[in-house]
Amino acid sequence: MKIIHFGDIHVWRNPLALYDPFYPKRYLGAVNLMLNRRKKFPKYLGQQVLDHILEEDADLVVFSGDLTTASLKSEFKGAAEMFTPLYEKWKERLIIIPGNHDRYTTKATRQDWYGEAFPYAKIDGVRVTELEGNRVVVAFDASCAFMLRSNGMFNSDLENLLEETLAGLTDKEVILVGHYPIDYPDTVAVDPQHELLGRAALKSIVRQYPPVVYLHGHKHIRWRLGNAVNCGSCGMFSEDPLKQAGYAVIKLDGGQITSVDGVHMGAGGEKVLTEGLS
Ligand SMILES: [Fe+2]
Ligand SMILES: [Fe+2]
Repeated sequence: MKIIHFGDIHVWRNPLALYDPFYPKRYLGAVNLMLNRRKKFPKYLGQQVLDHILEEDADLVVFSGDLTTASLKSEFKGAAEMFTPLYEKWKERLIIIPGNHDRYTTKATRQDWYGEAFPYAKIDGVRVTELEGNRVVVAFDASCAFMLRSNGMFNSDLENLLEETLAGLTDKEVILVGHYPIDYPDTVAVDPQHELLGRAALKSIVRQYPPVVYLHGHKHIRWRLGNAVNCGSCGMFSEDPLKQAGYAVIKLDGGQITSVDGVHMGAGGEKVLTEGLS
C-alpha cells in the first residue's frame, strides 16, 4: 500500500483583511504574516507540490493539518479550491484533518469554518475511515484556539474517545493521523508553547494500541522516528531539503512500514528525493 502524506500548506490571504481591533491575536497574526509569510510560504510552492501529488499513483492521500494561516474564511475557501482536484481523484481515500492554524480563533472553531469549507473532512474528535482489506484510518483532532500559543490539547474526553476507538479495532491495521508530534528527534528542540498538551497520554495510548504508522506534521521538518512520520510542510520555502516544501511517500506491507521517502521541490519545481529520511 502506498500513502502520500503532506501537510502544513498554510494558505494565506491579504494580511490587511486580518485587521480587527477586537481581536489582537488576529492583528499580531497579520503583522507576523506581513513580516514572514509572504517570503516563507510563497503561493506557487504549495501549488507545485499539489500538482506533483495529483500525478502520483497512491492508495491513500493524507493531509495532517494546517490548511490555513489564520483561519480566515478566504483562506479556507482558497485551500478548498486547491484541494478539489485531489478530492475528485481520491474521494474518501483523501483524508484531511485540521491543525492549530485552522482552529486559530474561538469564533472560527465554534462556527466550524474548517468543516464548512471541507464538508467531506468534518471531524468531531475522532473519525474512522474503513479501507479495503483489513486497514482502517483513525484520524483525531487535538487542535484548539489558544491566544498567542500554538499548542494542541489532548484532553481526557479525546483521550477516552481515541482509546475506546482503538480498543475496538485491535484486529485491524490502523493508520493513525494527528497534527502533532508524539516524539521529537534529538536534534529538534521541544517548544513548550508549540507542543501538544497531554502528549504523554497520547504516547501511552499509542504504546498500548500500536498503529502501523502515525502520520503527523506541525513541526515543519520531515522526519521518521520508528513508526511515526512527520511529512514537513508542503508550502514552506527553505534551503534545507528536510524543511523545503514537499511530502512523504510511505509504503506498507504485512502490517509494517516497508519504506519512507521524502520528496521536496527543486529550484525549477521538479521533484527531488530528500536524502536522510530513513
Ligand atoms: Fe504548521
Ligand atoms: Fe501546526
